[in-house]
Amino acid sequence: MSNLFDLSSFKHHLSTHWLGQDFRYFETVPSTNTYIKKLTADSVQHGTVVLADNQTRGRGQYQREWEIDPNENLTFSIVLKPTEATGIHTLTLACALCIVEMVDNLEYGTQVSIKWPNDVRIKNKKVAGLLTESVFLGNKIERLIIGIGININQRKFSGELHQKATSLRLATGRRHLREQLLNELLRRIEFKYHLWNRKLPVLYRQINRKIEGYGQWIRLVVDGKVQEDSYKLLGINEAGMLLLLNREGGIESFSYEQIRIITN
Ligand code: BTN
Repeated sequence: MSNLFDLSSFKHHLSTHWLGQDFRYFETVPSTNTYIKKLTADSVQHGTVVLADNQTRGRGQYQREWEIDPNENLTFSIVLKPTEATGIHTLTLACALCIVEMVDNLEYGTQVSIKWPNDVRIKNKKVAGLLTESVFLGNKIERLIIGIGININQRKFSGELHQKATSLRLATGRRHLREQLLNELLRRIEFKYHLWNRKLPVLYRQINRKIEGYGQWIRLVVDGKVQEDSYKLLGINEAGMLLLLNREGGIESFSYEQIRIITN
């Protein structure tokens, strides 16, 4: 039995209006993010989704590699063409929220959360990561590429990932249909995009509730160094900045990749 992504089943069940209607599948590609980055402006549209069963040069945050077993997981990138760049970081968090909701929906009752800035974790182990890149034309955003890797059916992680990573299969004890999960995820992302586009506060509240450490006193890592002081995590604002209350009662804001968070 082939474990390749079942394109016809996926397309048959696709119920979005625009997200994934232009869907491009590759058995192998260096990186779905890189593939999209290289396309000309008119050969990619708002809502294009590119999925590969195998990436030979998958990329993660902080110039790391994203290496996982072929045919077992979801590795894909989505293209969004927002009309303005304000608050685009919130879109990455909105996608992370959709992954959290999708896992919650599996109803096996475990804690799943967003680890600032771009991971989704189940019981402190990473199950998904997001890598967002943008293409600008002058000072105007032309496209946003949100690359998403979700560990679905992989059963073993080697090296340091052994301690740090998990998959839906490991967490739930059963295999999952990637086509079905992707359909659900795209539906959710399409809906959250509309909330983001209308700047509806409900989106920020939903994200905040799922960020690890929300409402708690946490420690910060700035430029790789753990800070002495602790801060209370107040959540994100409309611009996607993370707001923190310091011990003196002042509010400080941090951009997407400036800081990392240590929760107790
Ligand atoms: C991270 O956690 O470091 C981010 C990982 C992002 C991986 C995805 S897989 C699909 C897309 N293509 C890539 O090369 N990277 C992203």
